[in-house]
Amino acid sequence: MRAGWIALGMVFAGTVHAQAPWSPADLDTIASMRLSQVPAAPADASNRHERDPRAIALGKELFFDERFSKPGNVSCATCHQPAFQFQDGKPRGRAIGETPRRTQPLAHVAHNAWFFWDGRKDSLWAQALAPLEDAREHGGTRALYAHLVAEHYRAEYEAVFGPLPDLSNVPRDAGPKGTTAERVAWRALDKTVQLAVSRVFANLGKAIAAYERTLVHTPSRFDRYAEALVRGKPRLDESERLTREEETGLALFIGRGRCNTCHTGPLMTDHYFHSTRVPPREPGRPDLGRYLGADEALADEFNCLGAFSDAQPAQCRELRFIVHGDPLLKRAFKTPGLRGVATRAPYMHAGQLASLARVIAHYAEAPESLPAERRIVQGHVMGSELLPLKLSDKEAAALVAFLATLDSTTIERATAVAKPE
Ligand code: HEC
Ligand code: HEC
Repeated sequence: MRAGWIALGMVFAGTVHAQAPWSPADLDTIASMRLSQVPAAPADASNRHERDPRAIALGKELFFDERFSKPGNVSCATCHQPAFQFQDGKPRGRAIGETPRRTQPLAHVAHNAWFFWDGRKDSLWAQALAPLEDAREHGGTRALYAHLVAEHYRAEYEAVFGPLPDLSNVPRDAGPKGTTAERVAWRALDKTVQLAVSRVFANLGKAIAAYERTLVHTPSRFDRYAEALVRGKPRLDESERLTREEETGLALFIGRGRCNTCHTGPLMTDHYFHSTRVPPREPGRPDLGRYLGADEALADEFNCLGAFSDAQPAQCRELRFIVHGDPLLKRAFKTPGLRGVATRAPYMHAGQLASLARVIAHYAEAPESLPAERRIVQGHVMGSELLPLKLSDKEAAALVAFLATLDSTTIERATAVAKPE
């Protein structure tokens, strides 16, 4: 080990830019953070259409189709805008009305086991159904969406999912989550008709999920630097360099700052829930986050164990072994990935912090830090998990500078290789 360290030191001694020779352990960590290390997204057994190119194409149409909303002018892309990393840069998502949380970006979203800030959905397809029926977002009912598919995408839908049911006796506005009139209309329907309509609705989610699975990050300045380091290049090209300040930020990120205990791996997230005690937006009514989200996932009719899932119960491991009801989950939120983070202020689950400098100041102070509550549940550190960091102004600025090297745009991965199933 020692010899390796010295050899690296010699490599870097000859360069003008490198702030420090990285230790072998640091180099391993940096290597593990490269975008090239992102594995293939895990298969979602509850959606057997997720790799079908026809489902991907239909899902893309649906994602951008504003007709799939009650007022006819809201699509997923209203809030998840391709040019802004599939988010909207607002503190809280807004369409028909305002939602209580910030719109999440979507690159590599299929790597999650849980969706939304509180993980109240256990699959990407089940997630897509929520905004469609939310009065503040798309505002429509599942009956409306079934009719819209029949009118605009019948052939595309039937090629993937088989024949649409007969909708001639289904009113346009009927659904279990709608207005009083829409709920009454829904309850008046025969159970088998309800099931058929809900199945069409679930299938729309499956097509949208197939499209979302294709969204990925482009490589960042950090990746070019890390790739060159890992290759052991004796002298880095201009485009491969980080400034001293950026390197200092990286050293803090993987070192004393312990940022990568949660923001870990190439996507800089452990995809799990942690309490970092960000000040709630409404102090009188704090958002309980994962504490409620876990129970909602268990109760969701569209979850992995439900009637619309393509999975065998044994394949629903995440849901079957879910941690729920634990008070330590109160105010815990999903660790956001950090690629592209510098260009999507404001931050945190309700956009509470306006800038990265504010985020770092939050970590430096770690308000309400309760180290006594630290606890390990299924390999994850739970409870209030931050220790005050004590950063100098220079160090705080270095962390901000490092985060900006994770620049990214979101693109569609070439999908031509996927074979229909
Ligand atoms: C009104 C704006 C708005 C619309 C319209 C909208 N979303 Fe979202 N989206 C959000 C917000 C806000 C969140 C986070 C909400 C939460 O955690 O409670 C979110 C979260 C998500 C997530 C979770 C990402 C993750 O990492 O867990 C996905 C996936 C997603 N939306 C996809 C969609 C799809 C697909 C549609 C269209 C069917 C859609 N959204 C429509 C605002 C919107
Ligand atoms: C205990 C786990 C944990 C640690 C350690 C941690 N974070 Fe976080 N980070 C989170 C969670 C969870 C959130 C979202 C919190 C929320 O929205 O309430 C977050 C949010 C962020 C955000 C905002 C991203 C966004 O899209 O809103 C940034 C930037 C960030 N962290 C950077 C850092 C840095 C830099 C460090 C080290 C100084 C660090 N984090 C340490 C878990 C952690």
